[in-house]
Amino acid sequence: MPKPDPALFRAAMASLPTGVTIVSASGADGPAGATANAVCSLSIEPMLMLACLDRGSRTLLAVQAADRFGISVLHAGQEPTARAFATKAPVAEKWSGVAWSERDGLPAIDDALTWVACDLRDVIAAGDHVIVTGEVRALETSAGDPLVFHGGEYRPLD
Ligand SMILES: Cc1cc2nc3c(=O)[nH]c(=O)nc-3n(C[C@H](O)[C@H](O)[C@H](O)COP(=O)(O)O)c2cc1C
Repeated sequence: MPKPDPALFRAAMASLPTGVTIVSASGADGPAGATANAVCSLSIEPMLMLACLDRGSRTLLAVQAADRFGISVLHAGQEPTARAFATKAPVAEKWSGVAWSERDGLPAIDDALTWVACDLRDVIAAGDHVIVTGEVRALETSAGDPLVFHGGEYRPLD
């Protein structure tokens, strides 16, 4: 069977709608964060989250150094934040452009729909990404419409 084309793989996975998060950690030089949609809940007992981070992600380095990470689930009005954190701009620039606060010892995006603070548990190499799992230490959530990523675009839910 011929190997599927990577472009087809990307296009196929673009058909899968996801929420949009900022995965964050406190790095040696200040807060680090990346837009990430490869994030999900993993286990209830124990309570675990999972995130997949590119091997070249500066946020991955910060997560490993801090042994902790946070997840801010963005609401429909936070597309500018998603765009800002999906770049390789100097890390400090990402944070200077958004409202954020330190929460549970981690940098968190203000007004996100949901906040999850995790202690790093597993770090699993997987192709060009690394799977990190984290034990949930703190949680906050509120009602509202999520930011959705589908077909390579940010969309409201409707
Ligand atoms: C909608 C969207 C979802 C993304 N999801 C992920 C993801 O799950 N994991 C990841 O490593 N990068 C993801 N990225 C890419 C990162 O945000 C991007 O590589 C970023 O520059 C990483 O920043 P850093 O090097 O400061 O960590 C996503 C980008 C977009 C636009």
